[in-house]
Formats: sequence, C-alpha cells, structure tokens
Amino acid sequence: MIDTSEVLISHEQIEEMLARLSSQINNDYKGGQLIVCGILTGAFIFTSDLVRRLEMPVIVDFMQVSSYVGEVSSGNLKIKKDMSYDIKGKDVLIVEDIIDTGRTLELLKKQLLKRGPASLKICTAFDKPSRRVNDLKPDYNGITIPDEFIVGYGLDLDGEYRNFDDIRIVRKG
Ligand code: IMP
Ligand code: MG
Repeated sequence: MIDTSEVLISHEQIEEMLARLSSQINNDYKGGQLIVCGILTGAFIFTSDLVRRLEMPVIVDFMQVSSYVGEVSSGNLKIKKDMSYDIKGKDVLIVEDIIDTGRTLELLKKQLLKRGPASLKICTAFDKPSRRVNDLKPDYNGITIPDEFIVGYGLDLDGEYRNFDDIRIVRKG
C-alpha cells in the first residue's frame, strides 16, 4: 500500500518559493536574455510556473536526461531528448525538479559547458543535500527537504502523482 496523505509542502509555500526565486532571477539577469532549459518530465510544472514570472526575454527549451552508474565509471549521462536551441554564447538556466545525489546535474553541466554558453546556472525547486555524492550546489534553491521520497508538483513515483498541486511524502506500508 502506498500512502501519499502527508503534505510536506503546501501549494501556498510553493507560491512563495516561486515569488522568491523569480525575483532573484529577474534581478540577476536584468537587461539580459535567458535560455531556460527545463528537465523533463519532473520539472514541467515548475518550469511553466517559473517562466511566467520572468521579466526578461526568455527562450524555453527542454531536455530529457537520466544518469546511471556503470561498473567502471562514476556515472554516465543518457540524453533522451536534447535541447532544440544552440546555447553557444548564451546565458542558460537549467530548471530541475529536485536534486538528490547530484549525479544527473553534475554530468549534464559538464556536457552543456562543452557547448560554450556565456553562463550556465542551475535552479531547482527542491533540494535533498543530505543525499549528495558530490559537491554540486544549485545557484537557485527553492526549498530544502529532508531525506524523504516526495511526489506532486511534477514529481512522480513510477509516473504517478505528478498532478498533485502540493508536495506529499510517500509512505510504503
Ligand atoms: P540525482 O540528483 O542524479 O540523484 O537525480 C535526481 C532525479 O531523481 C530527479 O530529477 C528526480 O527525477 C529523481 N528524484 C530524486 N528524488 C526524488 C523524490 O523524492 N521524488 C521524485 N523524484 C525524485
Ligand atoms: Mg528528474
């Protein structure tokens, strides 16, 4: 049985987080242009909420990636869907749903830096720093959460629960 009745973060808290993050980003990129790259599928709601609060000219793009740890490597990145825009010389903001071990974003950052963006920053809605296996840090962090598996606001368990408009803790019993 999966129990998702415990609310960890309310929709009101998510709204506050969106206001805070967007004002930081609007301030930092004032007068510039931004390519926002949402990471599918988890960040689709966060990306759409965030970009509607941005005031500079914005191009919205998406990538779908996953990381896996091989037998001899510390991690590989699989790109299922790449960006549609060339980021060379552009300011790029990666928008992620949650950072857990940090493996995915560390590998993705390395790949995207090879394309020569003017700048590359990371914005995450949620962060679980206690699970980190590297020193990856988001440039913009929404809400720090404890080591719990969460769903809602785009985040899933086996594809389900993305449609909740708040964040729930998954309990299995
Ligand atoms: P990592 O930082 O490379 O370990 O992977 C982060 C990815 O794992 C996120 O983009 C999510 O897709 C997934 N993930 C990690 N923690 C959670 C969670 O609590 N709920 C839902 N997805 C999660
Ligand atoms: Mg993800």
